[in-house]
Amino acid sequence: MAPSATFIDVEPPVVIGPSTKKATRPSNELPWSLIDGAKLAKREEFDPVKHLNFIPPKSILTMKEIGLEGHGISPHAAAGPFPLFTPEAIAQMRAEIFDEKVLAECQYSSTFNKNMVRGMGPARAPFTYAAWKSPEVLARISEVAGIDLVPSIDFEIANINISIRDENSRVEHNVNLMSDKEELPAVAWHYDSFPFVCVTMLSDCTGMFGGETALRMPSGDIIKVRGPAMGTAVVMQGRYIEHQALKAMGGRERISMVTCFRPKSPLVKDETVLVGVRGISNISELYTQYTEYRLEILEERVRHQLKQERERETAKKPFNVPEMKRFLTNQKLFIESMLTEIQELD
Ligand SMILES: [Fe+2]
Repeated sequence: MAPSATFIDVEPPVVIGPSTKKATRPSNELPWSLIDGAKLAKREEFDPVKHLNFIPPKSILTMKEIGLEGHGISPHAAAGPFPLFTPEAIAQMRAEIFDEKVLAECQYSSTFNKNMVRGMGPARAPFTYAAWKSPEVLARISEVAGIDLVPSIDFEIANINISIRDENSRVEHNVNLMSDKEELPAVAWHYDSFPFVCVTMLSDCTGMFGGETALRMPSGDIIKVRGPAMGTAVVMQGRYIEHQALKAMGGRERISMVTCFRPKSPLVKDETVLVGVRGISNISELYTQYTEYRLEILEERVRHQLKQERERETAKKPFNVPEMKRFLTNQKLFIESMLTEIQELD
């Protein structure tokens, strides 16, 4: 699917990240009930026939409808919740997330989210990794997003946010508590670091209310997108839309899986930044994966431009100065962005 709409050249929104500067482990432990409850006798391989339960969203909110026509990389702003995975798939994912090795090596904490599991990778979480890499899942997500997408980097497969209700247990007391106060944001107004995001719910949301995503339009008006229920997902162009997650109330736990996406085509602009994730990642892995795909994009763009140039020559068309300057300027900005994003951490 190629983007058919026309997009305008504007500076992307500035992303504010957590004040956490270096990878930090949570200071609190997850309750044993959660870990024990996720154990499975049989681990399976991801099979789209068995594990995918996609039903297209009933409606898709467009960038035009929220006053942002021409911004970003797709005419679609947000969609969902829509069914995506079967209960069996969710159980397999939970078994991987609450696996001892994953909990020992992949837990992170920040000023935005107290308990996260990130960067599980294909060795520790083969099912989750295969699910987000599967052509079937990517075709569905791309359909909803209105543009062909691929996961941003392997480290972002996936980010799991864990909130547990305090049930007077000492162990649970410090874990990212769910609020009883209405409408309090779980995270303040922000833009995401990655072009698109898919949020999948891994908890049973029976009895839970709230948990919507609020989108703020340039006019100041606010639209709410319903939060996902178990097995369902929400897709949003979070890099370009100011949004905040509203707190969920009434449930015992809220475990959501966030997967980040970028355009599949190297010729589409990629305004990914690392500000939101630098402090909550294995920095060497993050920089390696980011640099690799960005250099690949650059490689493809140069090859494409060279091909165009050779074809122009063959067709005996004159050199196009503004077009070449535009191409070179875009690549200069692309490299400058990498120089900003790759930072030495003290
Ligand atoms: Fe966000």
